[in-house]
Amino acid sequence: MIRLGVNIDHVATIRQARGGREPDPVWAAVLAELGGADGITIHLREDRRHIQERDLRVLRETVRTRLNLEISLAPEIVSIAMNVRPDQVTFVPEHRQEVTTEGGLDLLKHRDRIAEAVSRCQDAGIEVSLFLDPDPAQLEAAASVGAIAVELHTGRYADALNPPSRQRELEALFDAGRRIRHDGLLLHAGHGLTLQNVADVARIPGMLELNIGHSIVSRAVFLGFERAVAEMKQAIQNAVAQPPPAQ
Ligand code: PXP
Repeated sequence: MIRLGVNIDHVATIRQARGGREPDPVWAAVLAELGGADGITIHLREDRRHIQERDLRVLRETVRTRLNLEISLAPEIVSIAMNVRPDQVTFVPEHRQEVTTEGGLDLLKHRDRIAEAVSRCQDAGIEVSLFLDPDPAQLEAAASVGAIAVELHTGRYADALNPPSRQRELEALFDAGRRIRHDGLLLHAGHGLTLQNVADVARIPGMLELNIGHSIVSRAVFLGFERAVAEMKQAIQNAVAQPPPAQ
């Protein structure tokens, strides 16, 4: 079974637009779980533009599935994660000006810092995943850092402008998935996934977890959170049950 991790950052973004108390991401998490989410994902950014420490603390108490916390390597944020102890930490790169996470970590550049942060978290019993582009050099380094999982960045596949480039990006994800599994790591993926493009990614052999936010929250505005999560969950289950359409 593939786990669906529902990213609820956008609910906090709407709340922060007015600086008040609603909508509360904690409510979204409850509804996501009722809709079939297997985990709740949040990103505590250094600039606190959406999720706040209060959300993290309350969600730690209320989430009944798995709490996956996306964080940068900033020591202050790593310390918060160590205190709150989510089930999983996903390390992501963070840049102040970006609208959303724009790519995977640079393991070649930051290997020592990442290895140290990974071992701090894992010593505390937190599972660690690394958000990486499907780039062979990055994946080769991943095996030596000590994390148990890699989340493949699916953004280039999701943003591909035409079928040939989409196919190329999908093949890169399949190759990366093989490599990750071969190295004994768990395989996760996410970014830019929608009802239209999730099936091919769900069919990558060994896929364990998909983290999806924007598309689910967008549809939840019209359909309600529970239903938006349920339809994504169904799309993933259908993809795994059915062979891909003939090319
Ligand atoms: N995975 C990671 C590591 C992310 O940073 C994000 C975006 O916050 C997602 C998955 C979800 O991406 P999207 O909101 O495009 O579904």
